[in-house]
Amino acid sequence: MPNLKFFSGENIPLEMHKVRMVQKINLQPVEKRLESMRAAGFNTFLLKNQDIFLDMLTDSGVNAMSEKQYAAMLEADDSYAGSETYYRLENVLTDIFGMKHFLPAHQGRACEHIISQILVKPQTFALMNYHFTTTKAHITRMGGAIEELISDEGFKIQSTNLFKGNMDIDKLNAAIKQHGKEKICFVRIEAGTNLIGGQPVSMKNLREVSKICRAEGIKLVYDASLLTDNLYFIKIREPEYKNTEVKEIVREIGSLVDIIYFSARKLGAARGGGILTSDNEIFHKMRELIPLFEGFLTYGGMSVREMEAMAVGLQESMDFDVISQTPIFVEALCNELLAKNIPVVTPPGGLGCHVDAKQFCSHLPQAQYPSGALASAMFIAGGIRGMERGTLSEQRNADGTERFADMELLRLAFPKRVFTLSQVKYIADRIIWLYQNRSLIGGLKFVEEPKVLRFFFGRLEPIGNWPEQLVKKFREDFGDSL
Ligand code: F0G
Repeated sequence: MPNLKFFSGENIPLEMHKVRMVQKINLQPVEKRLESMRAAGFNTFLLKNQDIFLDMLTDSGVNAMSEKQYAAMLEADDSYAGSETYYRLENVLTDIFGMKHFLPAHQGRACEHIISQILVKPQTFALMNYHFTTTKAHITRMGGAIEELISDEGFKIQSTNLFKGNMDIDKLNAAIKQHGKEKICFVRIEAGTNLIGGQPVSMKNLREVSKICRAEGIKLVYDASLLTDNLYFIKIREPEYKNTEVKEIVREIGSLVDIIYFSARKLGAARGGGILTSDNEIFHKMRELIPLFEGFLTYGGMSVREMEAMAVGLQESMDFDVISQTPIFVEALCNELLAKNIPVVTPPGGLGCHVDAKQFCSHLPQAQYPSGALASAMFIAGGIRGMERGTLSEQRNADGTERFADMELLRLAFPKRVFTLSQVKYIADRIIWLYQNRSLIGGLKFVEEPKVLRFFFGRLEPIGNWPEQLVKKFREDFGDSL
């Protein structure tokens, strides 16, 4: 929080905005919540919005937009080719990142598709701090493989390391030596490392990685989808940047990497995506694919209204008050849980509060998907929808065996500027109840398992009748309360 102290000494996250439009939400009785979970095949992706009280599935495409973003949508210039909206967005993006070229794409994974088509060749390696599900799927689809070079600290649930998303420089040097630089299709740094709990990457680390890539002639790709949380942490955790303007930090990032891409469902609080580069050759190659897969070059599969909202949202993301909101609310929830010894990823990161399902459900083997089970139990306990980020979100090995995730997390994402502090208190209350009754939570097994990105559509069922037992205990403890 920017320079704000409370007389009481308490650390209260303060909303730096006011609410001017609201959406009514409903809390269903616990029996109905179990019914909805069953109908959704114990997969929170398959729940219906009308059955959910607090939707913490993701911050993707569900962030609150400002009045200026809505106003800009009215000025959108709709045309198949040459729309003014495109040029406005291009100006904002090339100015913010200090890069020459911008290519529009309909969302983050579409950017990954285009980049992978151009840069990934069979039997090459994409070295990265950590993978994201869609990134890995696009690289492996092109015959490449990924290698994760996150620092060992990144895998520790509880840590005091302020930049757990950093790439391990020794591992990077060793991987280049082992494979040879010609076998490395690119190095990728993901800001605000998603799957290890929204953990940031320091500027010092990015500078070191960039130096090695430049010396070896390897392209450095930067996934900026979770940039804003990462920028907040650079400002408050990296002393050198304490007094640096957010915009200047972004410019420096742009100067260190070859390609930047992002999901504008996250960055810019709208819907869409984009790729930036100053490399003419790569730009021309990628440009050929945009009309083929996305749409004409001046809209790239996006609605011009969303492009206007994105342009304004990106400019607003250079404001420290705005970007502080998610991290300070994540921290508030994490602290409430840590006070009750509930295992969450520390230090609190961006994106959401990440509960460690391996410890929370230590009685469940990974083969029974403890984070998926915890996500189901969380919905039954409080109508709160989180996302499984563990073994269920992995792809099976080529031989069909399970690939057990490094971490079993239940992610409770904070859509930007959506929830209030009392809602955060409610979430903490229900998790604390669930923790006290954690021995009741049982495992899950697949009844329908898709081959690719199985967590999106897969259907599961509980092993035993634990959900009924959980509902029974809820009624004993809460009476006829919702
Ligand atoms: N990269 C990162 C770091 C992401 O978090 C996401 C999406 C993508 C790429 C893909 O972007 O969804 O626009 O195609 N993350 C969402 C999430 C889905 O819920 O964390 P997309």
